[in-house]
Amino acid sequence: MINGERSIERPLRWGMVGGGRTGQVGYKHRTGAQRDGTYRLICGAFDLDAERGRDFGTKIGVVADRCYGDYKELIAVEAGREDGVEVVSIATPNFTHYEITKACLEAGLHVICEKPLFFTVTECDEIAKLAAENGLIVGVTYGFTGHPLVHQMAAMVRKGMLGEIRIVDMQYSHGFNSGDDGGAGEAVKWRTNPKTAGPTFVLGDIGTHLYYLSEVVLPHLKIEKLLCDRKAFIPTRAPLEDHATVLMHYDNGARGRLWVSSVNAGNMGSQRYRFVGSKASIEWSDAHPDQLTYEVQGEPNRILHHGMPYLEEESLATDRMGALHTEGLGDSWANIYLWIAQAIDAKRRGDEAFLRSHHYPGIEAGTEGVRWLENCVRSADAGAAWVAFE
Ligand code: NAI
Repeated sequence: MINGERSIERPLRWGMVGGGRTGQVGYKHRTGAQRDGTYRLICGAFDLDAERGRDFGTKIGVVADRCYGDYKELIAVEAGREDGVEVVSIATPNFTHYEITKACLEAGLHVICEKPLFFTVTECDEIAKLAAENGLIVGVTYGFTGHPLVHQMAAMVRKGMLGEIRIVDMQYSHGFNSGDDGGAGEAVKWRTNPKTAGPTFVLGDIGTHLYYLSEVVLPHLKIEKLLCDRKAFIPTRAPLEDHATVLMHYDNGARGRLWVSSVNAGNMGSQRYRFVGSKASIEWSDAHPDQLTYEVQGEPNRILHHGMPYLEEESLATDRMGALHTEGLGDSWANIYLWIAQAIDAKRRGDEAFLRSHHYPGIEAGTEGVRWLENCVRSADAGAAWVAFE
């Protein structure tokens, strides 16, 4: 169980780009990072509007002269300080991720970046090479995968409790974009424009969460081919999609079905995962994150609760609240930030043995998400045709 005791040598000197007053995701970064004394927020370029960013930064405890006008100034000024920033989180629209990550790595800073990581696998490979050459960590905030019951599912699959995996069924949907975009805010505008969102809307915005979580639970399964059918129900969003269905064939013969949508009017169910094996199935949804359904063929169904001693060690090790007390998204993000801090700490100490056995969403996880998106787009653009997974 995690109890807030510091697990690394000293707090990392941390800065943020984006995630300002109007940003949707910034607070999740801060609640995740600052839980365990592993990160200390010392600077930021929080906003496109420099004045608003400075005002916001000082109100969350950053001194005024370390609230910068943009990320270039942040990097330049912090590089000249003995107590300068060491790791930067990037919580800005997708089209800026690559340029800011590259600049940070070139300045010798570790990076924690939002998903979808970049626009292309080529960019991911370039950044992975740069990070490796400079001895730096790139983490990706797939924030849902810190939930203890996600790791319970992975342990149950690994122990063979489900038998051979046959069916993977995943859904992430909401109805917030059911109407047209007249009067839409900035966060919708940049998400529905290919120049700022990249080659996808909902596939990258929410589908990458499903795909990464399935990789955590089923690390041994690889996609052989996929078929992606996507559509913009609101025509002004084309060529990007507000709804998509992806069918996947895995290398063990399993079949996958995933759908993502932002036009599922009225739906507040968010994410749902069902993994079906030859003996049993498990099902989890972030709408009820403290419960995992375990269904063994021919036996009464069971509901497993987080924090209970009958769970696997991997699950209990990630628990923060203890049974009976709700474990939430903030706890999940805190685990992601903790694991990345431990990776950065190990990199600083040159502890490669620790890094080989340590799991966190890193550059490979970010790259796989972008690779999956590239394959989805290739399939959809070929008229929803099956394509070999490349
Ligand atoms: P948003 O549009 O709500 O906020 C963006 C923020 O970044 C604003 O504060 C804006 O002023 C600032 N900004 C934009 N460009 C900047 C620049 N060049 N320098 C400094 N600040 C800049 O966007 P939202 O929804 O917060 O998304 C940001 C990123 O986070 C996206 O990549 C998105 O896909 C991802 N995201 C991830 C989530 C997760 O669960 N991991 C949840 C929501 C978003």
